[in-house]
Amino acid sequence: MQTDLFSPVTLGSIALKNRIVMAPLTRNRAGEGGVPHAVNVEYYAQRASAGLIITEATPISAMAHGYPALPGVYTDAQIAGWKLVTDAVHAKGGKIVIQLWHVGRISHPSLLPNGAQPVAPSAIKPAGKAFTYKGLVDYVEPRALDESELPAIVQDYVHATQCAIKAGFDGVEIHAANGYLLDQFLRDGSNTRTDNYGGSFENRVRLLLEVTKAVVNVIGSDKVGVRLSPVNPFNDMKDSNPQALFNYVAEALNPLNLAYLHAVEGGIHGGGIADPFDFNAFRKLFKGQYMANLSYDKARGNAAIASGHADCVAYGVPFLANPDLVERFKVDAPLNEADSKTFYGGTEKGYTDYPFMKV
Ligand code: PHB
Repeated sequence: MQTDLFSPVTLGSIALKNRIVMAPLTRNRAGEGGVPHAVNVEYYAQRASAGLIITEATPISAMAHGYPALPGVYTDAQIAGWKLVTDAVHAKGGKIVIQLWHVGRISHPSLLPNGAQPVAPSAIKPAGKAFTYKGLVDYVEPRALDESELPAIVQDYVHATQCAIKAGFDGVEIHAANGYLLDQFLRDGSNTRTDNYGGSFENRVRLLLEVTKAVVNVIGSDKVGVRLSPVNPFNDMKDSNPQALFNYVAEALNPLNLAYLHAVEGGIHGGGIADPFDFNAFRKLFKGQYMANLSYDKARGNAAIASGHADCVAYGVPFLANPDLVERFKVDAPLNEADSKTFYGGTEKGYTDYPFMKV
């Protein structure tokens, strides 16, 4: 039988009933204290027919926040909230991993404890505006982290992973994409450090490797994925040589024997691609399983699997608007249109009220 989107696959030790993954999507609808609540439980449970759900990006500490109404994964109340989500997804036969997030400079003092200055590899203010509880405001210049502060950040990833295990997740995905903290260390547009964490590829990938190894030690390599976005310009990101850098990163991850590598193969939010990039070459350097993302439809997803480029495909906006995306793909049913006005924040409208197909 031909391998396609509907074929099962095992990523590390996570057995997926199909290769259609729900991509991480920021929705800004967590309860007080970053605690997942009933409407979040319903939203994820509705999408449990995915082979795997990757949660929305989830801050690992109070300093990791960068937008309003995000869930966290570092307090007991958050663990209890997420447990309701994982139980509901598992009860419907689904699998779910949590995406571990530190936003770095993409934040604002009004979102951080005691009005703290956001932290970053280097004191380079990103162009653009922060999303705050009071609307859009200019970013501030971040504070460059001292090398002596990095072990505590690694420890925050360890603690969040311990919380994720208690919350019943099937694994974790380390968010090293889209211009957030770990990506800020990788790319030289945001990292101009002259210590052990800047300059050479080896130095710029160091924090990602330290975080990933520490997380693997807690939960096991067979339950850890990493997400990268080599050419995504979102959040004012750039690099002088993305192909060489990310080829290096893919190879540096090989010895860790991860469950999967997840790649955002372009620019998100309609941002286009700043640089040419050979994703096939990049993929081939990584020896484990590969999850492709960005603007795939059913046909392109199947083609990516048939050609051996990808082992599974993550769908974002289509899953947001179609809780039964897998079934719709199966019967080639039309898809619901997504309403971008209700992507970020609000109520159940545009969240849990997208209709299932009529049976
Ligand atoms: C966003 O809120 O626009 C966002 C959040 C996390 C991402 C990408 C985009 O990884």
